[in-house]
Amino acid sequence: MSVTTIIGAQWGDEGKGKVTDYLADDSKVVARSQGGNNAGHTIVVDGKKHKLHLLPSGILRKNVVNIIGNGVVVNPEVLLKELDNLQGERGQLFISDRAHVIMPYHKLLDGGEENSKGKSMIGTTGNGIGPCYSDKASRIGIRMGDLLDDKTIMERLEKALPRNQALLSHYSIDNDLSIENLFDLCRSWRNKLDEYITDASLLVNKHIDIGDNVLLEGAQGVHIDIEYGTYPFVTSSSPTTAGAALGSGIAPSKISNVVGVTKAYLTRVGSGPFPTELEDEVGEIIREKGQEFGTTTGRPRRCGWLDLVMLELSHRICGFSSLAIMKLDILSDMDKIKVCVGYKDDKGLEINHFPSSLPYLAKCEPVYKTFPGWSSSGIDISKGIIPEEMKIFLDFISKSMNVPISIISLGPGRDETIIF
Ligand code: GDP
Ligand code: IMO
Ligand code: MG
Repeated sequence: MSVTTIIGAQWGDEGKGKVTDYLADDSKVVARSQGGNNAGHTIVVDGKKHKLHLLPSGILRKNVVNIIGNGVVVNPEVLLKELDNLQGERGQLFISDRAHVIMPYHKLLDGGEENSKGKSMIGTTGNGIGPCYSDKASRIGIRMGDLLDDKTIMERLEKALPRNQALLSHYSIDNDLSIENLFDLCRSWRNKLDEYITDASLLVNKHIDIGDNVLLEGAQGVHIDIEYGTYPFVTSSSPTTAGAALGSGIAPSKISNVVGVTKAYLTRVGSGPFPTELEDEVGEIIREKGQEFGTTTGRPRRCGWLDLVMLELSHRICGFSSLAIMKLDILSDMDKIKVCVGYKDDKGLEINHFPSSLPYLAKCEPVYKTFPGWSSSGIDISKGIIPEEMKIFLDFISKSMNVPISIISLGPGRDETIIF
């Protein structure tokens, strides 16, 4: 029996979907614990691409029980569309009755808040994630379980709508949302989703108790965590090991493995600092070769070199038991590959802990170690053969972090993976 948590160690889009789908082969349960349809997880099966935003990445395997945990924010429209788009056999689905619902006013407010920020906009996915978590913290949110009862829907809407309408008028956003039409909408969602709504904490713990393997699929990444990310350029949930336990309703002590997923380089979508960003031809090559365009918004992802200062913070907060290093194929056939091993500030002081102050971070320059590149001709995935130069690169990452590497990925497909 194991409970394995898959954590994005960078700014999201590390390849968590691929790792989760791969490990789901040996798991009974896959649970999402936080975030919502700001996530975009890509799974490639037999050459066919599946993009999942809300459904856990075990959904493509018919024997897997998929759970949307209490820490997730659920847009029912998006969920229903995603379920409709699935063809063929799929795994079972359950949704926590404690998960909060993204309402139409949350999406409108996300746009209003972003526009009001002008140049300092966060570059959110525009899906209403932040406003929904705000309502949760303000105790005026609507939970999936609330949808099951007409009286509760009405009571919750009477609390939530006046405040959200006040905010919408603050941003001069006209709309025709009323208690009546939102009530009807909630009821229509209930009619389609009630069979999935349950106490998901009880369910996942039942599977743990009978000895099933459970995967907790992180969304986003540690560096857009609300606590430890580059605040305020962050999301509104906690994509950490602690967040995974809380958001799926299991005790932290039940987690047996934590897989930190990182690309062999680094990407970011949205605004915010990026010390190793490559705003040159090399960055462009990585973006094109790696197809670094957002799964959710289609925006070009900013690209740069791997940053070990960032990974040190991710490991400190999340306690990785192993690493999955993704997209090594994208760096193949490059002359030189750089890895950031520290930062130097404007006074010449070298630091190797990621600072919380963004003005201070802006004064820091990355310090690099340069590695010779490797040739793609030296890779034979089926035999587990990788070039010597890639081994040196991987050994350096593993030794610097003091964490073993359990998975390397050399392509989007399930079979383009080597397990150590
Ligand atoms: P997630 O949000 O962490 O699940 O990652 P995304 O799905 O947003 O982005 C990762 C992208 O890289 C997807 O298009 C994957 O299909 C792709 N991918 C994952 N691993 C590899 C790999 O090792 N090599 C290549 N070339 N693509 C990969
Ligand atoms: P996956 O699970 C990459 C980023 C947005 C924005 C910030 C806040 O696919 O790795 P939000 O809509 O959450 O309020 O936006 O967070 N962001 C992601 N970036 N991958 C993700 O998810 C992301 N989810 C949110 O681009 O900068
Ligand atoms: Mg993604």
